[in-house]
Amino acid sequence: MSNGHFSDVSKASAFGLDNVVAAETPLSHVDGEAGRLIIAGHDVEDLVAAYDFEGAVALLWRVAGLEPAPSGDDVRRDLGRARMEAFRLVPALLAATRGLSVTEGLRTGFSLLSDEGDLAAHIRTVGSAPVFIAALCRRDEGKDAIAPDAEVGHAADFIRMLRGAPASEAEVRALNAYLVTVTDHGMNASTFTARVIASTRAGMISAVVGAFCALKGPLHGGAPGHVLDMLDDIGTRENIDAWLVREIAKGERLMGFGHRVYKVRDPRADVFNKAVMLLTNGNERVRFARDVETAALAALKAAKPNQRLDTNMEYYTAVLLEALGIPRVAVTAVFGMSRVAGWSAHVIEQERVGRLIRPQSRYVGRWPDDKAA
Ligand code: ACO
Repeated sequence: MSNGHFSDVSKASAFGLDNVVAAETPLSHVDGEAGRLIIAGHDVEDLVAAYDFEGAVALLWRVAGLEPAPSGDDVRRDLGRARMEAFRLVPALLAATRGLSVTEGLRTGFSLLSDEGDLAAHIRTVGSAPVFIAALCRRDEGKDAIAPDAEVGHAADFIRMLRGAPASEAEVRALNAYLVTVTDHGMNASTFTARVIASTRAGMISAVVGAFCALKGPLHGGAPGHVLDMLDDIGTRENIDAWLVREIAKGERLMGFGHRVYKVRDPRADVFNKAVMLLTNGNERVRFARDVETAALAALKAAKPNQRLDTNMEYYTAVLLEALGIPRVAVTAVFGMSRVAGWSAHVIEQERVGRLIRPQSRYVGRWPDDKAA
């Protein structure tokens, strides 16, 4: 296999496109053997220590080549305005999404946005997500939506709009750690989707709607809600081993474990583990999750000795977002609230490349002139 092409179908791992290089990018790099994630020139742990969400968005946009290069303060001001603008769409959003889940509601919300204005569409999309998610969550609880505050940071405003009370500094720090960490992650399924759509010149909003649809599947960003279901279902320490053995024997996948690229522990799991420890001081739920993790790794090793399965970031995403009081039904949408920044940077980059992404398939059907068939 050479970069960007494969002629031997078997080598592309039965069309999971493993190891196929589909783009060159300075946005992020995933080293699955070393368990290392680099985002825009920073190891993920350093990025989290140095930037809040707005700072990370500005960095990604600068690295994607956006001109004039925005600062974190520019992005803070623009996202604040975009949240105010998005709030005007909330009545239409709620009317259009009756009976839909928060995830499906956010997908619809992105569709309500206009593609007008190049950079404006990017700001609009990134800025709208917390407003839409908070309004959809509150509707589920029978409560009215709360208006954004443009003077407050993106993470703090999201928590405020969600619960109707200001977030503590520790909560804002923890949510920023989450949002910064998941902004970008190589050529994952949703980012690839965004780039394919952007390559047709369909525009930012279309790219994000498509990308979000790819994200919400349980093999990608839809896993953390299931992690919490698993923890609840296991319930007690005495039940851990029996539960895991039974589910693995049934052929079920344990959510929060395994990764296409990481063959060792996902470094983002450690960032979230640290964040949740700082936030909760290691409460009983966090200790229980750690015990389940230890047992799950042992059970997977015993059941699948030839697979290199380790903890992925969705495991501690679930534990961290739960500790922040984010409803279980919203965890995939909150992933989207961050990853939209990465999609945006990739759309900017793909539009600069300017070439349509159009791979080949290999025809294995009957040929009309094949008399023997
Ligand atoms: N639990 C049990 N077995 C697993 C798991 C798991 N979590 N993950 C992979 N396996 C097994 C498969 O059953 C298969 O075993 P087999 O050969 O005996 O049939 C083998 O490992 C290989 O599985 P593939 O699906 O080919 O591996 P792939 O690279 O496609 O898997 C994936 C990656 C989809 C993430 C997988 O590990 C999975 O389903 N995990 C659970 C869902 C999850 O946590 N998703 C979040 C991913 S992180 C993110 O997207 C941000």
